[in-house]
Amino acid sequence: MTEPLDPSPITLPLAGWTMRAWRESDVAQLACIADDERIAAWMSDTWPHPYTEADARWWVSEGQFAMGTSWALCQDDVAQGGAGLHPQGGFQRCNVEVGWWLTPDCWGQGVVPAAARVLLERSFADAAVHRVFAPIHAGNTRSMRVAEKIGMRLESVQPMSAYKRGRVIERHLWASYRT
Ligand SMILES: CC(C)(COP(=O)(O)OP(=O)(O)OC[C@H]1O[C@@H](n2cnc3c(N)ncnc32)[C@H](O)[C@@H]1OP(=O)(O)O)[C@@H](O)C(=O)NCCC(=O)NCCS
Repeated sequence: MTEPLDPSPITLPLAGWTMRAWRESDVAQLACIADDERIAAWMSDTWPHPYTEADARWWVSEGQFAMGTSWALCQDDVAQGGAGLHPQGGFQRCNVEVGWWLTPDCWGQGVVPAAARVLLERSFADAAVHRVFAPIHAGNTRSMRVAEKIGMRLESVQPMSAYKRGRVIERHLWASYRT
């Protein structure tokens, strides 16, 4: 297990938008926004669907700390999505995986690109980190557009690289490097 990256809150350059750790008081809102097929369809197979209050309670109490650092993406302090950094360990400790999602009502305002730019800065602030990568399911043009906007490049196409709902899918690996 590697050290988690700096988890401190972030103010985004978009009016009212901040990033902070998930809280107990987010449980009902998380269960409400995360139980959306437009999100679930594109997340890894570990994403619960249906997404219950019990899933949300586990996430805010344990899940968010399990693999790295996670933030709630908040508008006026109300959680509307999430983002996280998952530092890789051992000989792969030069790598950090980044992930993101947002409730559809807030799509198209550049919220996730703004958040992801800060998360790239956070990652590279750790001198051990040289590559930040995002595996994106084939067909997820919105997420690939985010990767493109923040200066990531398409590193490889990985056929048959993950299961999703019992089917083997192709993923596109996007990455950004220390300059
Ligand atoms: C991918 C996602 C995080 C993008 O977040 P965002 O803050 O809306 O990002 P942007 O505002 O930069 O929009 C990205 C693209 O989404 C598309 N988009 C924007 N608003 C949209 C809307 N209302 N409906 C459908 N697509 C829309 C556009 O193609 C846009 O690109 P453009 O700015 O060049 O037109 C969001 O769509 C999402 O949460 N999707 C479901 C979960 C997911 O895919 N997570 C990533 C897993 S790898």
